[in-house]
Amino acid sequence: MKKLITTAAIAFFALSSNAAFANDECKVVIEGNDAMQFNTKELNIDKAACAEFTIELVHPGSLPKEAMGHNVVITAAADMDAVAADGIGAGAEANYVKPDDSRVIAHTSVVGGGESTSVTFSTAGLETGGDYKFFCSFPGHYTMMNGAVIVK
Ligand code: CO
Repeated sequence: MKKLITTAAIAFFALSSNAAFANDECKVVIEGNDAMQFNTKELNIDKAACAEFTIELVHPGSLPKEAMGHNVVITAAADMDAVAADGIGAGAEANYVKPDDSRVIAHTSVVGGGESTSVTFSTAGLETGGDYKFFCSFPGHYTMMNGAVIVK
């Protein structure tokens, strides 16, 4: 009986540590603050290890989303300017992302100070070694709030 319990405990431990490993590798937390800055200029996605990837966006500031809203949008680098411009036209109710925009690989909703949000998306549409960007499409933000998405 004692041996059975030990085996079960080891199996449970193996299962939980695998889950934790996959979760860490396929998820990133990005902060966007009151100074209109992300806390990173680079986002790494290991496509081989992650069929899906999660971005959690945290706004540690205090300004409301109407004044200093942030989201995270991922597109091909060449599409960033046009997607950001179309996002302004789409407006706040659309989280500054044109609805059903096929150039948008993933995006979060817009958050303000003290809020957070996340998006989980398939990595199937990303090419290894491709040229991608993440940025905030809130009006006027993307030139300061952008970085490279490295797909390996
Ligand atoms: Co922003």
